[in-house]
Amino acid sequence: MSAYKSLFAKATSDSQGFWLEAANGIDWVLPPSSALDESRKPFYSWFPDGVMNTCFNAVDRHVMAGRGAQNALIYDSPITGSSSKLTFAELQQKTAQFAGMLQSFGVETGDRVIIYMPMIPEAVIAMLGCARIGAVHSVVFGGFAAAELAKRIDDATPKVIISASCGHEPNRIVEYKPLLDAAIDMSEHKPSHCVIVQRDALKAELVPGRDFEWHDAHDGVAELPPVPLAASAPLYILYTSGTTGQPKGIVRDNGGHAVALNWSMSAIYDMSPGEVYWAASDIGWVVGHSYIVYAPLLFGCTSVLFEGKPIGTPDAGVFWRVIAEHKVKVLFTAPTAFRAIKRADPEGALMKQHDLSSLEYLFLAGERADPDTVTWAENKLKVPVIDHWWQTETGWSICANPMGIEKLPIKLGSPSVPMPGYEIDILDSEGAIVPPGELGAIAIKWPLPPSGMSTIWGADDAFVEKYFTTFPGYYESGDAGFKDEDGYVYIMARTDDVINVAGHRLSTGQLEEVLADHPDIAECAVIGVADELKGQLPLGMICLYPNCQRPAEDIVAEAIALVKERVGRVSAFNLVVVVERLPKTRSGKVLRSTMAKIADGQPWTIPATIDDPTILDEIAAQLKTIGYAENA
Ligand code: COA
Ligand code: AMP
Repeated sequence: MSAYKSLFAKATSDSQGFWLEAANGIDWVLPPSSALDESRKPFYSWFPDGVMNTCFNAVDRHVMAGRGAQNALIYDSPITGSSSKLTFAELQQKTAQFAGMLQSFGVETGDRVIIYMPMIPEAVIAMLGCARIGAVHSVVFGGFAAAELAKRIDDATPKVIISASCGHEPNRIVEYKPLLDAAIDMSEHKPSHCVIVQRDALKAELVPGRDFEWHDAHDGVAELPPVPLAASAPLYILYTSGTTGQPKGIVRDNGGHAVALNWSMSAIYDMSPGEVYWAASDIGWVVGHSYIVYAPLLFGCTSVLFEGKPIGTPDAGVFWRVIAEHKVKVLFTAPTAFRAIKRADPEGALMKQHDLSSLEYLFLAGERADPDTVTWAENKLKVPVIDHWWQTETGWSICANPMGIEKLPIKLGSPSVPMPGYEIDILDSEGAIVPPGELGAIAIKWPLPPSGMSTIWGADDAFVEKYFTTFPGYYESGDAGFKDEDGYVYIMARTDDVINVAGHRLSTGQLEEVLADHPDIAECAVIGVADELKGQLPLGMICLYPNCQRPAEDIVAEAIALVKERVGRVSAFNLVVVVERLPKTRSGKVLRSTMAKIADGQPWTIPATIDDPTILDEIAAQLKTIGYAENA
């Protein structure tokens, strides 16, 4: 039996034994005597009687083991022209001080802290500093608007918010503080304090009594040791898009998360302690949580924190410069970053200016890895390019090609095979397993392995209903796809209203809720259309009230501005067409997937349940006016 197959078989036949062994990879205050508590099915709890601390495992234990002088974090910021390094010993001191600062503001174990920050070292210190005292962090991506931040403030009810005066985007400075102030104005819950990193490019105004500058807040505080926490205690809440405008707060535990991530570093990424790992993502996403911050540090690697873009900061050679300068062994990013580089430098000329001999693997995730991009990267970099499939809900890859266990053949278009603990079946709408090659819903047998979400914050019922009800005994992934004869999984589409824009997960329902708020818009639908660079882009179709006399172009412009104002620029919402009517089934369901096929020029059929098929021609004609539906 191959190494992968025997490992997978062990994790299936003796799940407890497998994960207890993996649990030896981290340090426990009280080691767990059992791996899984399944008494509250479908809730599950990994290492139920284990006691540990994630910050201790990510920082202190490496100092104690003699790695204190090793770089833990390399901050490389081409967008500001600055860089710095933090050793494990320095990180230990900074997280201990941060924990003391939180305590001085009354934050206790279990309290929530929102982190709304750009990609700067203070953000990582804040995450780990929260973990040190068992405060639950919730990082909110900087590209979200004030209204989205307000929703998260009301849901997580943080005692303290950590932020910065500004972020840097190409050609502009993003003022974070006015967004934060607006969000606090909008939210019902008010944090008692905000701690603001004042960056060189812009100093924010502080609200007296509520806001403190980062250094001032740290003045004279005690340095706190890590506190022992139950493995099942929450480490963080990370909000992700669901079907509605209300984001879901995915709750991650401490123990299972640390065990799974630590295990993944050697098994999947073939890393050894001391080597340099770079996830070119953002700490606002799950990839950033897991592979910029937690996994590399838990495993004693050096992690690169990159504040820049794959192109334009200053050019499409910046990834190669970072790899060469910091001797990166593994690069992990989203395919869209490589599409951007390929477009800007198709011959890979800029690569030749750098010594890329340290790079051994490129890992891709976050969206479908299109074969063209994978092949281009393989040809240019001459290293294995590994697609792996992930969700915020799992925190690590569900399917991957485990480079540290066995280098399985790579099949273009597939993120390869299930990782230990993920027993995947492809199901039809009745819940029956479909044969290889046939498309269906991708479901994972209960329970999810360690690091799987423990619940939705404040919404246990929604957790059960959303993930564990459609297919009894399974976790419903929300992705559709198929398995081939060799057990390779292919991810083809979402089964819900989620679209994927530049590796970012967006809910079309959320965008529709905003559009529907415009006084002249009677009805609307948002679909995801194919985009060469970002994979998908949102496209809004709006119907105006019959008595609306205003020019349609004004309303289109207002609709776009409204989405950017309420959701944020990350929505990349720039495409809107005005249509007379929306195509619906006789029961009133809008035919979004048919419209998406028409827009993409894919083959489509008139759904049998459609109310009035002539509407589809009208839609195609309107889409053509903005360059879509070319073949329709
Ligand atoms: N704070 C404020 N605004 C932000 C932001 C942040 N942290 N991150 C992005 N934005 C803004 C951008 O400025 C942009 O605004 P604009 O459309 O008004 O110019 C918008 O949100 C969309 O940003 P982005 O998705 O980064 O697109 P882009 O057009 O600026 O760059 C790529 C395109 C492909 C270079 C970029 O998407 C990229 O680097 N992708 C990597 C993928 C990735 O990291 N995915 C995360 C999951 S692994
Ligand atoms: P997020 O929770 O933001 O990480 O988004 C998870 C979703 O992104 C998944 O449910 C998929 O739809 C998509 N996704 C992530 N990785 C891949 C991949 N390797 N191939 C195809 N889709 C992916």
